[in-house]
Amino acid sequence: MKAIMSRSIGGPETLVLEEVDDPVAAPGQIVVRVKASGVNFPDTLIIEDKYQFKPKRPFSPGAEFSGIVEAIGGGVSSFQLGDRVMGFSRWGAMAQKIAISASRCAVIPDEMPFDEASAFILTYGTSYYALKERGALRVGETLLVLGAAGGVGLAAIEIGKAMGARVVAAVSTPEKARLARKHGADRAVIYPTAPFDASSRREVARLLKGACDPHGAHVVCDVVGGYYSEAALRAIAWDGRFLVVGFTGGIPQIPLNLALLKSCKIVGVFLGPWLDRSVDHFSRAAAELLEWYQAGKLRPCISARFPLAEAGDAIAQLATRKAMGKIVVNID
Ligand SMILES: NC(=O)c1ccc[n+]([C@@H]2O[C@H](COP(=O)([O-])OP(=O)(O)OC[C@H]3O[C@@H](n4cnc5c(N)ncnc54)[C@H](OP(=O)(O)O)[C@@H]3O)[C@@H](O)[C@H]2O)c1
Repeated sequence: MKAIMSRSIGGPETLVLEEVDDPVAAPGQIVVRVKASGVNFPDTLIIEDKYQFKPKRPFSPGAEFSGIVEAIGGGVSSFQLGDRVMGFSRWGAMAQKIAISASRCAVIPDEMPFDEASAFILTYGTSYYALKERGALRVGETLLVLGAAGGVGLAAIEIGKAMGARVVAAVSTPEKARLARKHGADRAVIYPTAPFDASSRREVARLLKGACDPHGAHVVCDVVGGYYSEAALRAIAWDGRFLVVGFTGGIPQIPLNLALLKSCKIVGVFLGPWLDRSVDHFSRAAAELLEWYQAGKLRPCISARFPLAEAGDAIAQLATRKAMGKIVVNID
C-alpha cells in the first residue's frame, strides 16, 4: 500500500510518499481501507517530535480517518467486513490502510460522506470532552472559544450551541469571524496578531470581556494559548471554567492570582488519555456526537481537500495558520 511517511524529524516538506507493507489485524483490531484522513494541528507537531507522543520512525502521521472495514482480527464481533467506519488513532492514518483497535472505531450513518467522517471523531471528540466532561457547560451559559474558526474551535461552537450556550467566537481575521458566525456563534470578535505589548494585552482583555458581558465567560475553550490565554482568563466569569486544550500560539505563563480573583477553575483537557481510561468513553462520545450530526446540529466544515501525495501541503496549511475549518486528505 501507499503511505505518507516521516523518516526524519522536520516540517511537512520532509514527508515522503512510499510503498510499505499492508498492515495485518492483530487480535482486537480491524484493518480499515482508508478513504479520507482529517488533518489536525498535532500532525504538525508529531512530525517534528514536538508532540506528547513520539512514534518510532518511519511512521505515517494522521490521527482521524474514515474508511471501509477490510479485515477483522480475533475477538472482534462489533464490525462486519464492508462496514463504513470512522476512527481515531494517534498516527498512521495518512495511508491506504490502517490496523486499529476496534474500540477506537464506530460505524457511521449511511448519509455521512467519508470526508466529513474523517474530520469528526478527534475534532468534535476533543470539544465534546472539553465542554461536556471537563467544562460542565450549562444551558444559558456564555462560552468563549479562542481560535474559533479552526477544527476544534468550530466544533466547540457547534457543540456549545447544541448544549444550549451563548457562544462568543474569537478569531484573527474577518473571514474567520464570518465562518464562526456561519457555524452558529452568536457573536464573533477579531483579536490582533500576537505578540502583544502591555497595552495590546489590556486591549484584547477588554475586547473579550466586552463580548462576554454582562457576566463574563462561564466557560473558556482555549485552543490557542500564547498571549491570548491571559486576556481570555481576564474575561472569565465568577466560578468559570478555563479549559486548556491546545497551544498553537505557544505555552502561556499565567499569573495565578487571576484564578483566585474569579474563584475560577483552570482545567486540563487531554482527549487521548481520557479515551484510554475506558472503552465506554469512545462509544459514548461517538454515539452522542453522531446523534447530534444526524439531527443537523453538527456540520463539519471541509475547506480544502488534498490527495495523499500532497499530504505534506495539507499539514503545512495548519502550521501556517491558513486553514479554516478542516482540511482533509483524500485517499483512494
Ligand atoms: N487537548 C487535546 O486533547 C487536543 C486534541 C486535539 C487537538 N488539540 C489541540 O487543539 C489545538 C487546535 O487544533 P486544531 O486541529 O483545531 O488546529 P487548527 O484547525 O489549526 O486551529 C487552530 C487555531 O489556532 C489559531 N492560532 C493562533 N496562533 C497560531 C499559530 N501560530 N499557528 C497556527 N494557528 C494559530 C488559529 O486561529 P486564529 O488565526 O483565529 O487565531 C487556528 O485556527 C492545537 O493546539 C491542538 O494541538 C488538543
